[in-house]
Amino acid sequence: MTTIKATAPAKINLTLHVTGQRTDGYHLLDSLVTFAEVGDVISATRAVDMRLTVSGHFAVGVPTDESNLILRAAEALRSVRGITMGAHLHLEKNLPHAAGIGGGSSDAAATLKLLAELWDVDPLPHDHDAVVALGADVPVCLRAPTPCRMRGIGDHLTDFTALPRAAMVLVNPGVEVPTPATFQGLKTKRNPSMGDLPTGATLPEFAAWLNEQRNDLHPPAAAIAPEIDEALTLLRNQRGVLWAGMSGSGATCVALVKDMGAARQVARPIQIRKGSWWVVPTPLLS
Ligand code: C5P
Repeated sequence: MTTIKATAPAKINLTLHVTGQRTDGYHLLDSLVTFAEVGDVISATRAVDMRLTVSGHFAVGVPTDESNLILRAAEALRSVRGITMGAHLHLEKNLPHAAGIGGGSSDAAATLKLLAELWDVDPLPHDHDAVVALGADVPVCLRAPTPCRMRGIGDHLTDFTALPRAAMVLVNPGVEVPTPATFQGLKTKRNPSMGDLPTGATLPEFAAWLNEQRNDLHPPAAAIAPEIDEALTLLRNQRGVLWAGMSGSGATCVALVKDMGAARQVARPIQIRKGSWWVVPTPLLS
């Protein structure tokens, strides 16, 4: 019996501008998204029925019924492609929940790719209604590990392949931040978009550009979880940090550094000081 595996990498919003709101309540975004090497791992084996099991550091509290996006993604593919086969899926949950790094969306996207291979059917394109219905971040996660500029509610994507080589430190202070609550806390919903992205920039030039950008969800997220600003201050005070910001709707914060050696040096003192926090040096995929 063959088992195939895929990584569902952490999704990182290097910028996130909220530029408007649709009549259905969803917000229009302009965001530069990239991926970290660290991620959940999903494996799939052909079976008659559908089943999901979970293990890993963050397994506690992960549902294994149809409320899990993995099983919803599997059902979406089965229904669109008319599949009658099943699969036994296993999720190794390495990413924190409700953390702004697309754990559930990345799992759903990796599941769609994995099951298309397992069942030997065409994968769903990122802009398919069934994909967008799974979650606004699922389309961008389907394009992982390619960095993308994400617009619309998350469904208008353009590849951005001009990221300089770098590494990151991810810091999650252990507080779950519900995405809807963060969006509801926005004071202004029509903010300027990003303008032109820097192409051919060196890492310091790229970091300087990032320092002029924003994550508009940072103020409402920090009002819910003040630990976010504590994490950002700790990161910004470390030597070698070129830029630090919050990803998605928080609470995970991200620092950009030149390489994995620098990432480990930045991570170590923070992990020692904050033993219960999730602190991960990781390459930036590009
Ligand atoms: O699409 P997803 O289920 O990931 O979104 C969770 C919630 O985040 C939505 O119900 C909505 O409240 C908010 N959201 C939004 N605009 C987006 C993405 C998410 O308002 N572009």
